Amino acid sequence: MKQAKVTAYAKINLVLDVLRKREDGYHEVAMVMQAIDLADTIHLQEAQRNWLHTDNKHIPPNMNNLAMKAVTLMQQHFPQVAPLQVTLQKKIPVAAGLAGGSTDCAGVMLGINKMYNLGLGQDELERLGAELGSDIPFCMGGPTALATGRGEKIEALPHCPDLFFVLVKPSFGVSTPKVYGNLRVAEIKEHPDVNRCIHALKAQNAEQVLTSMGNLLEHSTFELQPDVKKLKDSMAAAGCNHVLMSGSGPTVFAAFAEEAQAQQYYQKIRNEYPGAMFARTVNQKMLEERVALYGTD
Ligand code: C5P
Repeated sequence: MKQAKVTAYAKINLVLDVLRKREDGYHEVAMVMQAIDLADTIHLQEAQRNWLHTDNKHIPPNMNNLAMKAVTLMQQHFPQVAPLQVTLQKKIPVAAGLAGGSTDCAGVMLGINKMYNLGLGQDELERLGAELGSDIPFCMGGPTALATGRGEKIEALPHCPDLFFVLVKPSFGVSTPKVYGNLRVAEIKEHPDVNRCIHALKAQNAEQVLTSMGNLLEHSTFELQPDVKKLKDSMAAAGCNHVLMSGSGPTVFAAFAEEAQAQQYYQKIRNEYPGAMFARTVNQKMLEERVALYGTD
């Protein structure tokens, strides 16, 4: 029986700029995305019918889940794909701004591609993924990329130098459509500088990557959920100069170039935020090894 195990990495946005609202309701963005080693584990196994099993009670085990939509989409395009049992071990918090649902979706598609030898290349996988969500194409590749359009147009960037993160996810979630819907781009004068971040990546200058971080959606999320702003302020006060909300939130992360400093900060902040998570940048080798086949034909 064919089986696959996929490690599905979370992402953060080192830079998230919003340029304008489009006619189709989406927003034109420019984002520097980075995969981090906080990850879900997905097991795919042939079964009598499509079936999702998950250890997370916040995820309804039905076909509306993005991971299951990925199964259905692949089966529509490739009839040789059998019914599959998907087992999802969640570590990435849900509705957190860390692309947890998107990376599970991408992981399922990558797993199926390898299990059935479909031979889909990066472009094809990104195109299929974009049908299910804006963040999914990035999650197919990485580890560092520029995302434009509605977020689905991906251009590889030089890999980010090693960075270390301490992430805190508040107990509530935020709705991405609400955050975008509440954003008044024209009223915001200062935008983060995507090009400065790209320059820093090309120069492999970790400090400059950190100082170029920014997220335009903070304006909107802070307005809707002032507790996210309080969390950011409190994390900065705990001893980090580079603290940012990821995606549409509400997760806030503190970023460091030195692992020892990040560990020290993590130990300190865990007293106040016991659910704090430690993560580091994902490298190319980790990405290449994320899908493993096992079992027999
Ligand atoms: O593409 P995805 O399903 O992830 O987007 C969820 C929602 O977030 C969209 O329906 C839209 O309201 C908002 N969004 C947006 N501009 C983007 C991405 C998402 O307005 N670039």
